[in-house]
Parts: sequence; C-alpha cells; structure tokens
Amino acid sequence: MTYVYNKNVETMIRAGKVIPSGVYGHLGPAEGCMIPSSAFPFFASKGKGAEFWDVDGNRFIDYMCAYGPNVLGYNDPDVDAAAQAQAKLGNCMTLPAPVTVEFAEYLTQLVKKDWAFFCKNGGDVTSFAIMISRYYTGRKKIIFLHGYYHGVAPWTQHPDTPGTIEEDCKNGLYIPFNDIEALKEVIAKNKDKIACLIATPYMHGNFIDNELPKEGYWQEVRKICTENGIILIFDDIRCGFRLSLHGSDTYFGIEADLITFCKALANGYNVSALCGKNFLKGAASTVPYTGSYWLSAVPFAAGLATLKKLEKVNATDHFEKMGIRLITGLEKAAKARNIPLIASGHPSMFYLRIDDELKNFRLHQEWIAECVKRGVFLTNHHNHFICYAMTPELIDETIGICTEAMDVLVRNNPDKFK
Ligand SMILES: Cc1ncc(COP(=O)(O)O)c(C=O)c1O
Repeated sequence: MTYVYNKNVETMIRAGKVIPSGVYGHLGPAEGCMIPSSAFPFFASKGKGAEFWDVDGNRFIDYMCAYGPNVLGYNDPDVDAAAQAQAKLGNCMTLPAPVTVEFAEYLTQLVKKDWAFFCKNGGDVTSFAIMISRYYTGRKKIIFLHGYYHGVAPWTQHPDTPGTIEEDCKNGLYIPFNDIEALKEVIAKNKDKIACLIATPYMHGNFIDNELPKEGYWQEVRKICTENGIILIFDDIRCGFRLSLHGSDTYFGIEADLITFCKALANGYNVSALCGKNFLKGAASTVPYTGSYWLSAVPFAAGLATLKKLEKVNATDHFEKMGIRLITGLEKAAKARNIPLIASGHPSMFYLRIDDELKNFRLHQEWIAECVKRGVFLTNHHNHFICYAMTPELIDETIGICTEAMDVLVRNNPDKFK
C-alpha cells in the first residue's frame, strides 16, 4: 500500500488561493525538488525526533530535516526546555537579554572567531558579510564559485532572474570550484577591485553531484586571498555543525575571515549568525544593519542549548556514521539490481542520483517518488540531511523501503537495468 494525500491536496488548494504558489520557496513543490508533486505530501501536522507526520496522518522518516535546521531531532526536550524557560522571562523586549552575550561567547569560542552578529535567516548574514567586505576594502567586486547558493538577495542572482536588474549583478565574477588557475586569472584581470570571495565549504548545489574540495584547494585559496587583500567568506549555512562543530573552515584546515551560520544553529528556532575575525569587528559595528526580531532572546537560549548538546553527544560523529550506514545499504541494493546509483558529498549531507542514460533525471525522480509514497522523505535534486535522533533501526527500515522502491522501479522499466 502506498500513501494517499487527500487532505494534503485539499490544504494545498486552499493555500493556493491565499498564498503565492501555495507553498512558496524551498519547502514547496514549485522549487522543483518534489517531482512528481503527486508523490509528495505538502503539509506536516507534527514532528518528533527524525520523523514527521503529514496532515493525512502518513508517517515519514525524514532525510530533509526542514532543509537543515532539524539537527538534534524535532521537539528536542533539552532545547525546548531552554527555549520555554527563556520565553517565561521574555523574548522580544526593549533591550536584549543577557543570554545574547552568553550565546555569542559560547559560539565564538566554539567556532574559533572573535565576534558574532545575530540575524534571522541565512540570506541576512551572507548579505551582511558582503556589505562588511565592501566597506572594509573599499572595493565592489565579489567572486562566486559556479553552482553556488547564498540566498536570494539581488546580489546573488543572475540578470535574467525575475525581479533582478542588470545593475544588481554587475559586480559578480564567476569561476569554477576547485580551479586555482581560474582564481588567479580572475584576480589578475580585476586587480585591486575584488572585495571578497564567498563560497560554501564544498559544492553542494542542486541538480548536480556534490563535489568535495581537492587536496590543498582551500589552503591555496586562503593564501591567494590574503596576498591580494580579498576577504574570504565561508558560507557555512548548510554545512555548519554537520561537518564539524568548529566551523567548516576548521574542518578543511583553514581560517576564513568571515563565516555564516544558520540552519543547524538552534534546532529550528530562528537565528542566524555572522562570525568574524577581529580586524573586521569595526566594520561590523559601522555598517548599518538591524531587524525587528534579531535580538529576540528565545532563539538564543535554544541556540545555546543546541550547541551544548551537539558537543556533549559528539553529534558530528553520529551524523557521519548514520550517513555511511545508509549510503552503504542503498549502494549495495542498487548494485544487486544493476541500478547506477551515485552518492556524493559528505555522508551527513549526502546527495543521491540514479545515472539516467538520457541525463534527464527521470529514473531518479521515479525512484524517489516510490520511496516517498512508502514513508521515506527524500527529495529529487537537493542534498539530504541526517539529525542526531536518527537511529540505526530507522536507517535499516529506510534501506528496506528504498530497496522495495528500487524493485518497483526495475519492474516498471525492465529494459533499463539489465
Ligand atoms: C549555503 C546557503 N547559503 C545561504 C542560504 C540562505 O539561507 P536562508 O534561506 O535562511 O536565507 C542557504 C539556504 O539554503 C544556503 O544553503
């Protein structure tokens, strides 16, 4: 028996009447990571640990983790208790609560930076990192690495993106990831004009196999940026606290000048952070930047409890172990059926793709759809996430369901997997 989604569809029809796209952005089907949309639920009624239930009552083992924020588990009791205790004292007040300072102290010590500036979303802090870099250097240009994603602010977009104008993109320089020669070349052509290089710790883009840095790549980038007065920004919004609790720059053996965190910072409570080195603290104090809820206390209490627990339980080890267990099981099942399944990226944030001979993702989408309809929530073209509440038992149940979905795929496409 596969899932039916009557209430999901009913709710989506209501949503479509009053909300643009019904569910807009990355949580919805319009983004293209839930194809065919008929295989996916649209609204969750509750979450617990590594699972959630949709509005029809269908249960899912969840490998999207709210696209990253669910790092310990939905409704983690320690994080929720800390948040509720702070809520009783006050959340959004005329002055910040002392937990703001405690959180900044804890975070900066953990990620080995000198200061922390808090906002709400990832895009808030990537934008602030760009503004600080431009102010400090007095330069305009930004180096991006192909396949990047740093949010949706106009400076991140291409001129043909709806709502973006040519002028927004005039200062972007675009080079391939893992290519030092391209970096040297772009710097030579734009001498003393480049404010910063912004990059994710590895290439975890959508619709492409994810790519880890080549040996020595970040060390060389770090050296070149320093020699040319270019601020190195690590966008750790997706990888942060999944690869390492000390920042992904530390994980890859370098020190970025600025680093952004968001998704896994507070187990779903809304806070993001830009952390930086001392020489940029003056710029961070000078550039005007603020928001109505940025200094609300509850997410700071939640963030503090999240980081302490992630450290205490050695969560990154668990993510990696669970990721490897899952990938190994899926690869074994795929191999036995002649299905060319490719897993890429870091095991805690694995990306999956069935290598379709037409390179059009059709077989991959068909397999993912069969998994979702049986209770394993994966998406087609985005990396996945592991949370601390994931257990070996849930992983093994997942492998069983995904294997059954492979059998359906083979049955429906007998000529493809000989
Ligand atoms: C690497 C990276 N940077 C920036 C962002 C933007 O974050 P937000 O959607 O919270 O603004 C994301 C979100 O997925 C991201 O993965």
